[in-house]
Amino acid sequence: MNEIIRKRKSTRRYDKAPLGEAAFSKVSEKLGTLTPLFPDIKYSVTIADKTKGLLAQGSGASSFLVFRSEYKEGAYENIGFIGQQMDLWFSENGLGSCWLGMAKPNEGGDLSYVISMAFGKPVGTAHRSLADFNRKPLSEISDGSDPRLEAARLAPSGMNTQGWYFSAADGKIRCYRKKPGIIAPEKLGCIDMGIALWHIASETENFRFIQESGVPERKGFIYDGTVV
Ligand SMILES: Cc1cc2nc3c(=O)[nH]c(=O)nc-3n(C[C@H](O)[C@H](O)[C@H](O)COP(=O)(O)O)c2cc1C
Repeated sequence: MNEIIRKRKSTRRYDKAPLGEAAFSKVSEKLGTLTPLFPDIKYSVTIADKTKGLLAQGSGASSFLVFRSEYKEGAYENIGFIGQQMDLWFSENGLGSCWLGMAKPNEGGDLSYVISMAFGKPVGTAHRSLADFNRKPLSEISDGSDPRLEAARLAPSGMNTQGWYFSAADGKIRCYRKKPGIIAPEKLGCIDMGIALWHIASETENFRFIQESGVPERKGFIYDGTVV
């Protein structure tokens, strides 16, 4: 499995010193290489030095990715999928990052604001050992067997809700997300699904995510699509 998936963590304390031009241009370069889940959905990712809202203040973070998208079915999953590529890339490059569901952007943009991600030099390390992951066991979030389920299990989620369910059979993984509630609104659940899908995609040779018809229902969950 992708080694970074097994050691990344959210960083909540950053070195206040700005990253420097060379690092920002590497981030911009990486932003130009991301793979969308749904290529027909317009989105943008910009770099900001300020944001409003929880965590952003007080964490020492001074760099943020701001994700925007046109609104279409699948838009939030698409942003989760794209953003998680950045989260893993920061970790791979020794930087820290943290998705920010509570942040609000300082400036407007053409597309609708979706979510932000803080990034920067971590105070301490951006990595941890597998034993330090706080996650549900596979038996609670999946059935069937597929080696990629472990990568999905280790994915980050808003408030660590892990509100997904994966049903694996015959090389396919059917993906369900928990019905939205007050704690986990629809938007976060969809972003979380996109994040887990990127973890699965990074373990898959020819990743495809399709809508099947006649998929068995799962009580309390919404079918999101199938990895084939
Ligand atoms: C969509 C999303 C939104 C999040 N929003 C916040 C946030 O506003 N503030 C925060 O401190 N952490 C936030 N997180 C980080 C989660 O709390 C964190 O991923 C989860 O607790 C698992 O921990 P880990 O990332 O270290 O594995 C968010 C994560 C996701 C995926």
